[in-house]
Amino acid sequence: MVSEDKLHTTIKAVWNNAEDETYRQDQSHYRGVGRWADDEAWQDIGRSSMQKIKFLWRLLNRPNASLANQVVLEWGPGGGANAFGLREISSRYYGVDISEKNLAEAGRMMTAEGRPNYFKPVLLAGVPQSIVGDVEPINIFLSTAVFQHFPSRDYGIEVLKALRSMCAPNAGGFIQIRFDNGNPKYRGIASIQEYEREHITANSYPIEVFWDALDAAGFQPLAVNGLRTKNNYATFYMAAK
Ligand SMILES: C[S@@+](CC[C@H](N)C(=O)[O-])C[C@H]1O[C@@H](n2cnc3c(N)ncnc32)[C@H](O)[C@@H]1O
Repeated sequence: MVSEDKLHTTIKAVWNNAEDETYRQDQSHYRGVGRWADDEAWQDIGRSSMQKIKFLWRLLNRPNASLANQVVLEWGPGGGANAFGLREISSRYYGVDISEKNLAEAGRMMTAEGRPNYFKPVLLAGVPQSIVGDVEPINIFLSTAVFQHFPSRDYGIEVLKALRSMCAPNAGGFIQIRFDNGNPKYRGIASIQEYEREHITANSYPIEVFWDALDAAGFQPLAVNGLRTKNNYATFYMAAK
């Protein structure tokens, strides 16, 4: 049984303290770095998330006009591409990240965009539940390209529970995961010792397992879409029960 401290330190070593800083920034989706030197590619991350929020709103039978002044929380904002992409619909944007460097970058980027008080950094310094008291009730939550980096399926379930306990009544959100369809590439790590080498594909869930996990965590699962066999991505939509 690995300790919570060891788990946290091992994840953080990759996302905050990696030796290769350019690789770390590229993997964390920093605007202007590596693959994201192409600003359209970087902005596409946030545009895609905005489309997903609009899809969520259709699932919830809510008019687009009500997409304003939302309190949003993203688990794992990295360089802030989604914070940027959702800036028109949200008044406050909480970013929960294990990396203080990434939180600083997302804040820097939004300040450079003229929104100095918009991005609210929340540093995860322990287990997922540890940040719950640091955040006001949220209306919308999202997580893209993050769950696959958790060290186990169970860790992701703990994140779901933390998200649920921060929800305002009627909150909704979407979460992207990797699905497990038996492809050995996405099988996930067997122990935390493998995390540094395999953090890109650290875990995956059978579709129905994640669907049921949402339900068990207090969400009503609404839909799943965006299945991509190229990288086993799937996006789940849900509302707080
Ligand atoms: C691939 S980036 C995705 C960034 C952003 N969501 C996007 O789609 O552009 C992964 C982010 O998740 C963060 N992260 C990794 N493990 C985490 C954890 N256990 N809790 C919170 N954030 C985590 C990393 O520091 C990084 O910022």
